[in-house]
Amino acid sequence: MDQVYSLITGASSGIGEACALLLAKAGKNMILLARRKERLEELKNELEKNHGISVLVYGVDLSEPEQIERFFDDIREKKVDVLINNAGLALGKASFENCEWGDFNRMIEINIKAFTRVAQLAIPHLKETEGHIVNISSVAGIEAYEGGSVYCGTKAYVKMISKALRIDLLGTGVRVTDIAPGAVDTEFSEVRFKGDEALAKSVYQGYTPLYAQDIAETILFALQRPKSVNLESILIMPTAQASARRVFKKSP
Ligand SMILES: NC(=O)c1ccc[n+]([C@@H]2O[C@H](COP(=O)([O-])OP(=O)(O)OC[C@H]3O[C@@H](n4cnc5c(N)ncnc54)[C@H](OP(=O)(O)O)[C@@H]3O)[C@@H](O)[C@H]2O)c1
Repeated sequence: MDQVYSLITGASSGIGEACALLLAKAGKNMILLARRKERLEELKNELEKNHGISVLVYGVDLSEPEQIERFFDDIREKKVDVLINNAGLALGKASFENCEWGDFNRMIEINIKAFTRVAQLAIPHLKETEGHIVNISSVAGIEAYEGGSVYCGTKAYVKMISKALRIDLLGTGVRVTDIAPGAVDTEFSEVRFKGDEALAKSVYQGYTPLYAQDIAETILFALQRPKSVNLESILIMPTAQASARRVFKKSP
């Protein structure tokens, strides 16, 4: 019998990596994608050794459309029943007029264009298996905040397209879940603040943020519902965070 795989984009760190760890425990074979292939190779070795599953890894830069096409060409014979469309980023936190155009462009390229093409090319696989698409949006897609402009816009796009996909895929058996996290302590802020570690750390200080595993557990819960049950949209926040900007921080 053909092996069936879960496809995770952005599996080299944070939420994607945590999903890979948890899905491996659940015995799922996986296709992992990110630019940092050496990290994926390490993860593959660990997961195959500890869980006896099959893991395929692909070093793909999602900002290069031809790399996305080539990747789907490479996996065209594979059966895929889960897509966790997770790879994404925020860059900068300046006010709209002061942001660098290159940063805007990059967020649009990854969070919108690559995200959309990955979903489109995965759908034939998912229709065949009556599979499940999990999109990672954000609380930033529900509420705008200062310095969030284009990032918030890209995540609102993810939320809306998730709803549109639900409608277009009705009758196919394919489920679509939109997961919207609040603050999760991953490499996200290091990327946003371009390697400024102190600034990145400060985002998660004074309260207990979410951890990548919290999101992965929520995703696994959605995946493990009966096929007739679709969790459409889940907003998951730290207890200490009540909105995009309202975080209760204890002073040091
Ligand atoms: N952390 C939060 O507070 C938070 C909150 C809400 C939503 N989210 C969303 O959650 C998702 C995952 O973020 P995270 O928090 O886990 O951050 P992270 O630790 O920085 O992980 C981001 C992942 O995306 C991949 N990625 C980025 N650019 C890529 C590219 N050009 N090509 C291929 N892969 C690329 C990275 O892999 P490589 O660098 O190896 O390519 C990495 O694996 C994102 O969509 C983010 O917007 C995060």
